[in-house]
Amino acid sequence: MDLKPYIRVIPDFPQPGISFKDITTLLNDGEKYKEAINAIKEMVSELEIDVIAGPEARGFVVGAPLAYALGVGFVPIRKSGKLPYETIEVGYDLEYGKDKLAMHKDAIKPGQNVLIADDLLATGGTIATSVNLVRELGGNVVGTAFLIELSELNGRAKLPDISVFSLAKYD
Ligand code: PRP
Repeated sequence: MDLKPYIRVIPDFPQPGISFKDITTLLNDGEKYKEAINAIKEMVSELEIDVIAGPEARGFVVGAPLAYALGVGFVPIRKSGKLPYETIEVGYDLEYGKDKLAMHKDAIKPGQNVLIADDLLATGGTIATSVNLVRELGGNVVGTAFLIELSELNGRAKLPDISVFSLAKYD
Protein backbone atom coordinates (compact mmCIF):
# COMPACT_ATOMS: atom_id res chain seq x y z
CA MET A 1 0.00 0.00 0.00
CA ASP A 2 1.08 3.62 -0.52
CA LEU A 3 1.16 4.87 3.06
CA LYS A 4 2.45 8.39 2.50
CA PRO A 5 -0.89 10.07 1.63
CA TYR A 6 -2.09 9.14 5.14
CA ILE A 7 0.97 10.42 7.04
CA ARG A 8 0.95 14.10 7.99
CA VAL A 9 4.37 15.72 7.78
CA ILE A 10 4.92 18.60 10.21
CA PRO A 11 7.97 20.77 9.51
CA ASP A 12 10.14 21.98 12.40
CA PHE A 13 8.55 19.79 15.08
CA PRO A 14 9.56 19.21 17.86
CA GLN A 15 12.44 21.51 16.95
CA PRO A 16 13.70 23.46 13.93
CA GLY A 17 15.01 21.27 11.15
CA ILE A 18 13.06 18.13 12.18
CA SER A 19 10.32 17.01 9.81
CA PHE A 20 7.92 15.07 12.06
CA LYS A 21 6.03 12.11 10.56
CA ASP A 22 2.63 12.21 12.24
CA ILE A 23 0.83 8.85 12.14
CA THR A 24 -2.30 10.09 13.96
CA THR A 25 -3.88 10.85 10.57
CA LEU A 26 -3.43 7.20 9.58
CA LEU A 27 -4.77 5.93 12.92
CA ASN A 28 -7.83 8.15 12.50
CA ASP A 29 -8.76 6.42 9.23
CA GLY A 30 -10.10 2.99 10.18
CA GLU A 31 -9.92 1.53 6.70
CA LYS A 32 -6.35 2.69 6.02
CA TYR A 33 -5.11 1.79 9.52
CA LYS A 34 -6.39 -1.74 8.95
CA GLU A 35 -4.85 -1.79 5.47
CA ALA A 36 -1.47 -0.73 6.87
CA ILE A 37 -1.49 -3.43 9.56
CA ASN A 38 -2.52 -6.03 6.99
CA ALA A 39 0.28 -4.84 4.68
CA ILE A 40 2.83 -5.38 7.46
CA LYS A 41 1.27 -8.78 8.15
CA GLU A 42 1.81 -9.63 4.48
CA MET A 43 5.44 -8.39 4.54
CA VAL A 44 6.32 -10.66 7.45
CA SER A 45 4.30 -13.65 6.28
CA GLU A 46 7.43 -15.73 5.61
CA LEU A 47 8.55 -15.46 9.24
CA GLU A 48 7.76 -17.89 12.04
CA ILE A 49 6.46 -15.59 14.78
CA ASP A 50 5.50 -16.70 18.30
CA VAL A 51 5.09 -13.26 19.82
CA ILE A 52 5.27 -9.55 18.91
CA ALA A 53 7.10 -7.04 21.10
CA GLY A 54 6.69 -3.27 20.72
CA PRO A 55 8.24 -0.25 22.46
CA GLU A 56 6.02 2.38 24.03
CA ALA A 57 4.09 4.33 23.04
CA ARG A 58 3.70 4.32 19.30
CA GLY A 59 5.03 0.77 19.01
CA PHE A 60 1.85 -0.34 20.78
CA VAL A 61 -0.45 0.99 18.06
CA VAL A 62 1.44 -1.04 15.45
CA GLY A 63 2.50 -4.09 17.44
CA ALA A 64 -0.76 -4.87 19.25
CA PRO A 65 -3.07 -4.93 16.19
CA LEU A 66 -0.43 -6.88 14.29
CA ALA A 67 -0.31 -9.45 17.10
CA TYR A 68 -4.12 -9.63 17.06
CA ALA A 69 -4.14 -10.13 13.29
CA LEU A 70 -1.54 -12.91 13.54
CA GLY A 71 -3.21 -14.52 16.55
CA VAL A 72 -0.05 -14.28 18.70
CA GLY A 73 0.70 -12.52 21.98
CA PHE A 74 1.94 -8.97 22.47
CA VAL A 75 4.70 -7.90 24.86
CA PRO A 76 5.06 -4.22 25.80
CA ILE A 77 8.56 -2.74 26.05
CA ARG A 78 8.25 0.18 28.42
CA LYS A 79 10.21 3.09 29.77
CA SER A 80 11.87 2.39 33.12
CA GLY A 81 9.61 2.34 36.19
CA LYS A 82 6.31 1.55 34.44
CA LEU A 83 6.14 -2.24 34.63
CA PRO A 84 4.86 -3.69 37.92
CA TYR A 85 6.57 -7.10 38.04
CA GLU A 86 10.31 -8.01 37.98
CA THR A 87 12.04 -6.42 35.01
CA ILE A 88 15.25 -6.31 33.06
CA GLU A 89 16.41 -2.93 31.78
CA VAL A 90 18.77 -1.74 29.08
CA GLY A 91 19.98 1.85 28.77
CA TYR A 92 20.18 3.81 25.54
CA ASP A 93 21.25 7.24 24.36
CA LEU A 94 18.68 9.83 23.34
CA GLU A 95 19.40 12.95 21.35
CA TYR A 96 19.62 14.77 24.69
CA GLY A 97 20.58 12.48 27.58
CA LYS A 98 19.86 8.86 28.33
CA ASP A 99 16.88 6.64 29.10
CA LYS A 100 16.16 3.01 29.84
CA LEU A 101 13.73 0.51 28.35
CA ALA A 102 12.36 -2.40 30.35
CA MET A 103 10.57 -5.72 29.92
CA HIS A 104 9.06 -8.13 32.38
CA LYS A 105 11.53 -10.94 33.10
CA ASP A 106 9.01 -13.62 32.15
CA ALA A 107 7.62 -11.85 29.07
CA ILE A 108 9.52 -14.01 26.59
CA LYS A 109 10.17 -17.71 26.93
CA PRO A 110 13.69 -18.79 25.90
CA GLY A 111 13.72 -19.82 22.24
CA GLN A 112 10.52 -17.99 21.28
CA ASN A 113 10.57 -16.29 17.88
CA VAL A 114 9.96 -12.59 18.38
CA LEU A 115 9.08 -9.90 15.84
CA ILE A 116 9.65 -6.37 17.13
CA ALA A 117 7.26 -3.75 15.74
CA ASP A 118 7.28 0.04 15.96
CA ASP A 119 5.89 2.99 14.03
CA LEU A 120 9.21 4.48 13.02
CA LEU A 121 12.84 3.53 12.41
CA ALA A 122 14.96 6.67 12.81
CA THR A 123 18.46 6.38 14.34
CA GLY A 124 17.68 2.78 15.36
CA GLY A 125 18.49 3.38 19.03
CA THR A 126 15.05 2.31 20.30
CA ILE A 127 14.87 -0.82 18.20
CA ALA A 128 18.46 -1.88 18.91
CA THR A 129 17.75 -1.55 22.63
CA SER A 130 14.55 -3.57 22.20
CA VAL A 131 16.52 -6.28 20.38
CA ASN A 132 19.03 -6.41 23.24
CA LEU A 133 16.23 -6.80 25.80
CA VAL A 134 14.54 -9.62 23.90
CA ARG A 135 17.85 -11.42 23.41
CA GLU A 136 18.72 -11.02 27.09
CA LEU A 137 15.51 -12.94 27.87
CA GLY A 138 16.56 -15.71 25.46
CA GLY A 139 14.21 -14.69 22.65
CA ASN A 140 15.11 -15.19 19.00
CA VAL A 141 14.55 -11.92 17.09
CA VAL A 142 13.25 -13.02 13.68
CA GLY A 143 12.73 -9.51 12.33
CA THR A 144 11.71 -5.91 12.88
CA ALA A 145 8.77 -4.16 11.22
CA PHE A 146 7.88 -0.46 10.89
CA LEU A 147 5.32 1.74 9.24
CA ILE A 148 7.99 4.32 8.40
CA GLU A 149 11.74 4.31 7.88
CA LEU A 150 13.85 7.47 7.76
CA SER A 151 16.46 6.11 5.37
CA GLU A 152 18.98 8.92 5.76
CA LEU A 153 19.44 8.18 9.45
CA ASN A 154 20.50 4.63 8.55
CA GLY A 155 18.94 2.89 11.54
CA ARG A 156 19.44 -0.39 9.65
CA ALA A 157 23.16 -0.13 10.40
CA LYS A 158 22.33 -0.81 14.05
CA LEU A 159 20.57 -4.05 13.04
CA PRO A 160 23.20 -5.73 10.84
CA ASP A 161 22.03 -9.29 11.39
CA ILE A 162 18.25 -8.73 11.48
CA SER A 163 15.59 -8.47 8.76
CA VAL A 164 14.07 -4.98 8.59
CA PHE A 165 10.64 -4.45 6.99
CA SER A 166 9.12 -0.99 6.44
CA LEU A 167 6.04 0.19 4.56
CA ALA A 168 7.19 3.70 3.64
CA LYS A 169 10.66 5.23 3.33
CA TYR A 170 11.51 8.94 3.62
CA ASP A 171 14.91 10.48 2.75
C1 PRP B 1 9.85 7.38 18.58
C2 PRP B 1 9.29 6.32 17.66
C3 PRP B 1 10.29 5.20 17.80
C4 PRP B 1 11.60 5.94 18.02
C5 PRP B 1 12.40 5.98 16.78
O1 PRP B 1 9.47 7.09 19.89
O2 PRP B 1 7.98 5.92 18.03
O3 PRP B 1 10.02 4.35 18.90
O4 PRP B 1 11.25 7.29 18.42
O5 PRP B 1 13.59 6.68 16.97
P1 PRP B 1 15.02 6.01 16.96
O6 PRP B 1 15.06 5.02 15.81
O7 PRP B 1 15.94 7.19 16.72
O8 PRP B 1 15.24 5.36 18.28
P2 PRP B 1 9.63 8.10 21.11
O9 PRP B 1 10.90 7.76 21.85
O10 PRP B 1 9.47 9.50 20.61
O11 PRP B 1 8.45 7.68 22.07
P3 PRP B 1 6.85 7.64 21.87
O12 PRP B 1 6.53 6.50 20.93
O13 PRP B 1 6.39 7.37 23.26
O14 PRP B 1 6.41 8.98 21.31
